[in-house]
Amino acid sequence: MIRESLLNSIEHLAVHYGDNRDAMLPTLQGLQQEYGWLGTEVINEVARRFGLSQTEVFSVASFYHFLDTSMRGRYVIRLCRSISCALADPENLVTRSGNTKGRILRALEAELGISMGATTTDGLYTLDWANCMGMCDRGPAMMVNEDLYAELTPAKAVDIVRSYH
Ligand code: FES
Repeated sequence: MIRESLLNSIEHLAVHYGDNRDAMLPTLQGLQQEYGWLGTEVINEVARRFGLSQTEVFSVASFYHFLDTSMRGRYVIRLCRSISCALADPENLVTRSGNTKGRILRALEAELGISMGATTTDGLYTLDWANCMGMCDRGPAMMVNEDLYAELTPAKAVDIVRSYH
């Protein structure tokens, strides 16, 4: 990442959103859209621009499931692990630690050849957890980047993932 390009991006976003503390979240979203994830360089420059510590910016970036502080694949698959989705399909029950793998997670891991939290070696897919994404009455649910999918079965989840190339 070229620093000058990053600084220009931050300034462009500051024109749009402002540069007070409330603007930090949309700024981070904008930078994630542009760069795919929020690495140390991004965190440091946002901190400098907003006059905050790197720890403060990192804590915001790492709090929200739609922001990534580690390198991600082109398609980030986020499987909901909140309680309503788990109850929608008892065979999909997972523990929050992921020690008990539900059938949808097992199917996605087998399809992608990776474990939860990992990225495929070709850089295409990352598999990750998400907390509730507002589809509780239609669980189990997952997102692929910004796209929401509900009423999943293992086969449906795999078909959805295969549709992204
Ligand atoms: S609990 Fe999964 S979308 Fe709400």
